[in-house]
Amino acid sequence: MKTIKLNTDALMPIIGLGTFLSAPGEVYQAVRWAIKIGYKHIDCASIYNNQKEIGQAIHDAIVEGDIKREELFVTSKLWNDSHAMRDVRPACEQSLKELQLEYLDLYLMHWPVAQRKGTGMPKSDDDWIPLTEIPLWKTWAEMEKLYNDGLVKAIGVSNFNEANINLLLEKTQIPPAVNQVECHPLLSQNDLIAFCRKNNIAVTAYSPLGAERSGATLLENKVIVDMAERIQTTPAQILLSWQMQRGIIVIPKSVKENRIHENYASQAVELDAADIKIIDGLNQNHRFFDGTFFENPAKGYDKIF
Ligand SMILES: NC(=O)c1ccc[n+]([C@@H]2O[C@H](COP(=O)([O-])OP(=O)(O)OC[C@H]3O[C@@H](n4cnc5c(N)ncnc54)[C@H](OP(=O)(O)O)[C@@H]3O)[C@@H](O)[C@H]2O)c1
Repeated sequence: MKTIKLNTDALMPIIGLGTFLSAPGEVYQAVRWAIKIGYKHIDCASIYNNQKEIGQAIHDAIVEGDIKREELFVTSKLWNDSHAMRDVRPACEQSLKELQLEYLDLYLMHWPVAQRKGTGMPKSDDDWIPLTEIPLWKTWAEMEKLYNDGLVKAIGVSNFNEANINLLLEKTQIPPAVNQVECHPLLSQNDLIAFCRKNNIAVTAYSPLGAERSGATLLENKVIVDMAERIQTTPAQILLSWQMQRGIIVIPKSVKENRIHENYASQAVELDAADIKIIDGLNQNHRFFDGTFFENPAKGYDKIF
């Protein structure tokens, strides 16, 4: 499997299994299938509320000899309600416990948003904490301690724009290893990717298939569907291959064995320069997650992206 070398020198598998909206009752089997198929990278988060079941699947896969811990790359994410200095380590320890792991390979600050302890998605004004009270760089400094103490092998960010990353680069010691952001042909993120590359930060594309949506989706985009038919592959494989060929890590989510397999097999699909150019031309800066659910100007959150 192709890997991306992080600024810690660790190798991050270029394709991983996403687990957002993978329901308890489904995600155990999805992780077991994925590991048997060859995935070595699982993308998790505390807010997905399914880490316990993922932890059981990882545990069973290791005990049954499907994989060794050191071959696996497990990511988890610090939720917004745990940005306060005293909350960062307990939140990480809770994720380690749920995942039945002694260390995480990567721990991300999930959003550049601080919230009141115990909140999921913010609803009332009290749920937001202004970044003047808990600045991102103070939360990051606590994450640096997790790295220095060996609880996590790398630290990174998610949904960060250039300004947020620059703040960390200026005010803290350890640069982020990864920025995980929404990315697909309708949101190619070329400028942010160039900025991250310049700063030796790897980029992971979330929602690489266009996210879990009803109605018309990216997987039904005519250009992608026609191309898939012409080169005898599938729309999902085109979307994933396009990213991997430009050095972007992908974490497609599925709980279906055939799709987990199909997505993994995208590593063997080679797009030629002409087809890459066609896909490059689809960019509309369109977000499926536009961040408005975190905006609250009264609390200092004007624009997330
Ligand atoms: N950092 C963040 O803020 C953030 C935000 C969103 C997502 N993420 C991460 O990124 C991962 C992926 O993003 P995502 O879950 O939003 O969306 P995605 O992976 O782009 O798409 C998932 C959807 O596509 C379907 N699917 C998967 N493979 C398919 C295939 N080969 N053919 C047709 N349909 C297929 C899935 O359904 P089935 O399961 O039924 O197959 C599901 O409905 C998440 O799971 C999560 O780990 C991170």
